[in-house]
Amino acid sequence: MSEHASPALTVEGLSAGYGRFEVIHDITLSVAKGQAVALLGPNGAGKTTVLRAIMGMLRHRRGSVIVDGTDITAMPPHRVARGHVALVPEGRRLFLGQTVEDNLRLGGLHLRHDKERTEALLRSVFELFPVVERYRSRPVTAMSGGEQQMVAIGRMMMSAPSLMLLDEPSLGLAPLAIQGMADALGALRERGQSILLVEQRVDLALQVCDHVYVLSGGRIVRQSDAASVDAQGRELIDAYLG
Ligand SMILES: Nc1ncnc2c1ncn2[C@@H]1O[C@H](COP(=O)(O)OP(=O)(O)OP(=O)(O)O)[C@@H](O)[C@H]1O
Ligand SMILES: [Mg+2]
Repeated sequence: MSEHASPALTVEGLSAGYGRFEVIHDITLSVAKGQAVALLGPNGAGKTTVLRAIMGMLRHRRGSVIVDGTDITAMPPHRVARGHVALVPEGRRLFLGQTVEDNLRLGGLHLRHDKERTEALLRSVFELFPVVERYRSRPVTAMSGGEQQMVAIGRMMMSAPSLMLLDEPSLGLAPLAIQGMADALGALRERGQSILLVEQRVDLALQVCDHVYVLSGGRIVRQSDAASVDAQGRELIDAYLG
């Protein structure tokens, strides 16, 4: 297979959990290059655990994870984070005492010796999120929740990842900010960023994504192209989400 044809993400038979307690079972999913794919599911379904398992943050795992042609199954998380996969975690985890720009630069630490690349990445964050540029010298705490989420996404753009994982970016945002987030993710995808988006907001997922998977009880129970999710399919997904 040519490099161009390799998917952004191929997960096969992935099982993982905490200690001896297996939480996700036999997960198989893929993200084509440049696609946005949603992982939907109710609270406790194991969505965050899937993202952690992809990053290599959980020790006891079975299965394989291949990102853009590279097998990262056995790679330690700090190496996975160097341009392979970036995780925008639930709750953003920004450094609140630091400026917006410092937060962004922390995301590109492994590229810091390549000044040109770092500055180009910073410019691309500012192009995508003008509000982030306006606040670049101010503390993160001066921004609203939706704006802070854009900083969290920008920070991960700075690592130039093959694949970006987002864990419920709409959580805790007001309706207007949720639409802003949907627009931001759409713009990111249009730039060619491959995305795996964990969400409980089905509307947001269907608006942004090409394909959706539904996770329930640690298993993939449904999948579909977003475009072919009709009213009936939507009802089925809503029923899983409770
Ligand atoms: N650090 C942990 N140690 C032990 N069990 C955990 C840990 N984190 C999560 N779990 C368990 O794993 C299961 C799945 O949790 P996970 O956080 O992956 O779900 P989720 O789908 O992301 O839920 P939510 O929508 O609430 O974020 C839950 O039963 C949870 O109690
Ligand atoms: Mg979660």
